[in-house]
Amino acid sequence: MSSNPQYLSGNEIRNIFLDFFAQRNHQILPSASLVPEDPTVLLTIAGMLPFKPIFLGQRTPEFKRATTSQKCIRTNDIENVGRTKRHQTFFEMLGNFSFGDYFKEQAIAWGWEISTQVFGFSPENLVVSVFEDDDEAFGIWRDQIGVPVARIKRLGEDDNFWASGPTGPCGPSSEIYYDFHPERGDENIDLEDDSRFIEFYNLVFMQYNRDASGNLTPLQNKNIDTGMGLERMAQILQKVPNNYETDLIFPIIQTAGQIAGVDYHSSDEKTKVSLKVIGDHIRAVIHMIADEIRASNVGRGYVLRRLIRRVVRHGRLIGISGEFTTQVAETAIALSESAYPNVRQREAAIKAELQREESNFLRTLDRGEKLLEEIIQEVKQQGETQISGESAFSLYDTYG
Ligand code: SER
Repeated sequence: MSSNPQYLSGNEIRNIFLDFFAQRNHQILPSASLVPEDPTVLLTIAGMLPFKPIFLGQRTPEFKRATTSQKCIRTNDIENVGRTKRHQTFFEMLGNFSFGDYFKEQAIAWGWEISTQVFGFSPENLVVSVFEDDDEAFGIWRDQIGVPVARIKRLGEDDNFWASGPTGPCGPSSEIYYDFHPERGDENIDLEDDSRFIEFYNLVFMQYNRDASGNLTPLQNKNIDTGMGLERMAQILQKVPNNYETDLIFPIIQTAGQIAGVDYHSSDEKTKVSLKVIGDHIRAVIHMIADEIRASNVGRGYVLRRLIRRVVRHGRLIGISGEFTTQVAETAIALSESAYPNVRQREAAIKAELQREESNFLRTLDRGEKLLEEIIQEVKQQGETQISGESAFSLYDTYG
């Protein structure tokens, strides 16, 4: 029998998570900036990143337990955004952390409690995974929690060993998945099948440091780092088919749709992808600018410029001819400001940066389009049917 958990808004899910762990003596800490202190990464990619020096024993924590909702950006799969159910550049990661305090048993027990008792998921809808040789975690799930062995999967390093980068703190992990179709049975559970499963909570048993040659040495303490995807939880609890249709993102899509004069639900697939890209990227953009990143041609600034340009380009693809990014940004700011007041405080800077980048890019696009027409005319006159690789590269690289 599958469960029927109650609808919760994104803001409610965030508050419920933080409250649950605050009641269990975790200090609620504010999200750190998207600009990390850690020089090994360009942007904050996970909830644990601000705590890396604590895990490594370089900083003494003020609290043994903490809980956060951390703004994160990952752009490694940017081309998948809008095309899959759940790829995003910007997302919020809910986390509970133990710095040398509780470990595996407690993290698993609370992970199960919040999933089943608080968010109301029926055990029949849950499957868990553990690292292949982590018999201890397997035993806790089976004996203390009572998960049937057919629903505890052992997976390899790619899935169940977590590290923030090639070096640094890391450890085996255990993930909790939501099963949308438990009626399909336990025999052929394939956790990669995203029509059936979604991973929503990663419990990392942070206990090693990996050096540049790949050697693992035990950390001074055994720690816990967890990550629950807010947008994924919203997708499950709001019973929508993907992250973009949750209340955290969909209003932005509606604003973009209104400007373009298209309706998301009756649109073709291509238009939907563009609307989803706009919905996703503009969230990343407002938070990046709020955290003092400026568009440029290097590093974080380049990531920002690229995201803004992709928003503008997808706007054009759905028929928007003028400037529109500040309007979609306004919707994104309104959605985020209660949890992240700095987006409203930085509203003027966000809109000014967007306006400048957008109008520059639109001019570049216009020049590029004229150039393309000229190239096509030339090619036709020469009796050819293809433009040269060189022209194509120049159009893409210089004119977006
Ligand atoms: N660091 C882990 C992750 O990003 C758990 O928080 O999934």
